[in-house]
Amino acid sequence: MSIVIDNEKRVFTLRTKNTTYQMMADELGGLVHLYYGSAVDGCAMDHLVQRYSMSFAPCPTDIGMLRNYSFDYLPLEYSSWGSGDYRTTAVKVTFPDGSNALDLRYDSHKTFKGKTPLAGLPAVYADEDEAETLEITLKDRFSEVYVVLSYCVLPEFDAIARSVKVINRTGAELVVNSALSAMADFRSDEYDLLTFGGRWARERNMERIPVHNGKIAVESRRGASSHHQNPFIVLCDKTATEDQGCCYGLSFIYSGSFTAFAETDQMDQTRLAIGLNPDNFNWKLDDGETFQTPEAVFVCGTEGFGSMSRNFHKLYREHLCRGKYKHARRPILINNWEATYFKFDEEKLFRIAEQAQKLGVEMLVMDDGWFGKRENDHSGLGDWFVNEQKLKGGLNPLVERINSIGMKFGIWFEPEMISEDSDLYRAHPDWCLHMPGREPLRSRIQLTLDMSRADVRDYLYERLYSILSSANIAYVKWDMNRSMAVVYSMLLPAEKQGEVYHRYILGLYELLERIESAFPDVLFEGCSGGGGRFDPGMLYYHPQIWCSDDSDAIERLEIQYGTSFCYPVSTMGAHVSAVPNHQTGRVTPLNTRGVVAMSGTFGYEMDLGKMTEEEKEEVKVQIETFKKYYDLISYGDYYRLSNPAENHRYTAWEFVSEDKKRALLNYVSVLPQANPAPRIIKLRGLDPDTCYEVEGLKLTGAALMQGGILMPVMSGDHQALQMEIRAL
Ligand code: GLA
Repeated sequence: MSIVIDNEKRVFTLRTKNTTYQMMADELGGLVHLYYGSAVDGCAMDHLVQRYSMSFAPCPTDIGMLRNYSFDYLPLEYSSWGSGDYRTTAVKVTFPDGSNALDLRYDSHKTFKGKTPLAGLPAVYADEDEAETLEITLKDRFSEVYVVLSYCVLPEFDAIARSVKVINRTGAELVVNSALSAMADFRSDEYDLLTFGGRWARERNMERIPVHNGKIAVESRRGASSHHQNPFIVLCDKTATEDQGCCYGLSFIYSGSFTAFAETDQMDQTRLAIGLNPDNFNWKLDDGETFQTPEAVFVCGTEGFGSMSRNFHKLYREHLCRGKYKHARRPILINNWEATYFKFDEEKLFRIAEQAQKLGVEMLVMDDGWFGKRENDHSGLGDWFVNEQKLKGGLNPLVERINSIGMKFGIWFEPEMISEDSDLYRAHPDWCLHMPGREPLRSRIQLTLDMSRADVRDYLYERLYSILSSANIAYVKWDMNRSMAVVYSMLLPAEKQGEVYHRYILGLYELLERIESAFPDVLFEGCSGGGGRFDPGMLYYHPQIWCSDDSDAIERLEIQYGTSFCYPVSTMGAHVSAVPNHQTGRVTPLNTRGVVAMSGTFGYEMDLGKMTEEEKEEVKVQIETFKKYYDLISYGDYYRLSNPAENHRYTAWEFVSEDKKRALLNYVSVLPQANPAPRIIKLRGLDPDTCYEVEGLKLTGAALMQGGILMPVMSGDHQALQMEIRAL
């Protein structure tokens, strides 16, 4: 049983394979956090709660004239504004008279097997035998506002999926000013925090910082999860490493603005929380209505970051990604973006496809530029009609030609955007996000469509449906190339303008659901100027996301390393591109570009026809190698063996099959040294007693993990190799 309830003490214990999470409704009904960490079965940890009579701590009147109870310092599960808790609170509402305090107390609870979906929102899914859910209802002491905390325990993954409902039964309307999805107060400040910030083409750089007095917040206000911060943070023991120590990953299944923070308090406790960014968020809740937050997922790694990441990978791969391509092998693709940019016609595309097909590539993806008046990025967005000057005769003849050489065909869209120089804008200037009486802010010379509007979504659905059903299209790249600014919807009344950021995302999810269920065989890849919306919300709709517009193999080492803390390799879009690389100017060997792109969805983004015969032969071998290792890479356990941000000399990582019979070591010697010292890589995740063969050597798993393997000396910059390890 994963949920154990001590009704007498009102202690709720959530148990996963290796962890325990515990909370208690105390005698006043305050929901107090007791414990989170390695499994501690059979004990109520209420002895850890200390009461103080503390100066400046507000006490509720139901404690009588005593002074030793205050939400100012108690470790809480979900704290409310106006309750006497001065830390950052998780929920705030405003009543019609302008008052805005809530004093949330335990009201009731229920448990059930399995997990209920979240209406209109992406979420982890599980069968009745895979999960158990506890719902604790809190009620405001002075009004009929209810807050339902949902904890879905997924024992196999050491995961707890949380979300919150705010219910208004007050008889009047109120405004939800903030409602985070998960919060917990840890009983110490002896922690570090991992964050994953960056910028365009430099996404998800892992940074480790000590939590300190005050608050460390990572946030997006861009209307997208963003390149700049990822909705994922990890609190960890100061001693935690890849394979030791406890860490707590908190991931938000959402694609818009968010906040995530670690805040230490006066009693040296650490509050960890994640949810919708409360900036510019105000949700009007009529009597009888419920506001449902998006879902957040806690995974506790009891054996270091690696154990946490592998659980996130399995959970998101198996219980978040959906559809045909959750398990079907994805086609190896060639994308024309870096090969042609906007300058192509059907002949040029066909030549790229034909050449690639000879080498084993399975799908051509036609990127930006095929529609409307789209010669560059100044115009055309919104006009999703084939540009027949570029593609003579329309889409179908090209697709049929590509299909006739045995290749699939994929296409690029950027549905959420509009160019001012487009027929769509000329017809519907009010369809973009902008404020009355103000000029909008341009970014990449484009504006954002108001996805909260049903008419906008209907137009996009009709256009996407028409294009996708006009030819045999196997793949869609769904792009989004700017951050929102000046966010206002012309259709909503003044008091609902604080809902637009969230309504945009709900509208986007609705459109994705509609179009993807109409085309269940189409593979969708998410993209936002690379990895600007690389988040679990998007993974619910797209099983893969273009990881970064930076396709340089050496830069990708760090980007893919950071991404791997939360996201499975099977979700990371990665391609071999031309050298000198278009983003950095760096020249890397073709083999290295292949090794790095193989730790992702794998494909090419260049004109293979421009390669030498020798290089073409190498591409053929790369494709066969990727196919050979596909299952190991896509479904195997992932081990980070070095941190490329700290170690500039080499990077190593490994995949191990679930049965531990096969492994693949990947190694990039980033910078060579004169007279190099021996470089030994210690493998991980093998069975210590099994005998393995690697490069002609026969060694036990113990020898390979404790002793390691000696890497050959490789001369020249940026060399790479792969080694297969097989059980004998
Ligand atoms: C974004 C994407 C690229 C490419 C261009 C096209 O930047 O990340 O891969 O599709 O848009 O404009």
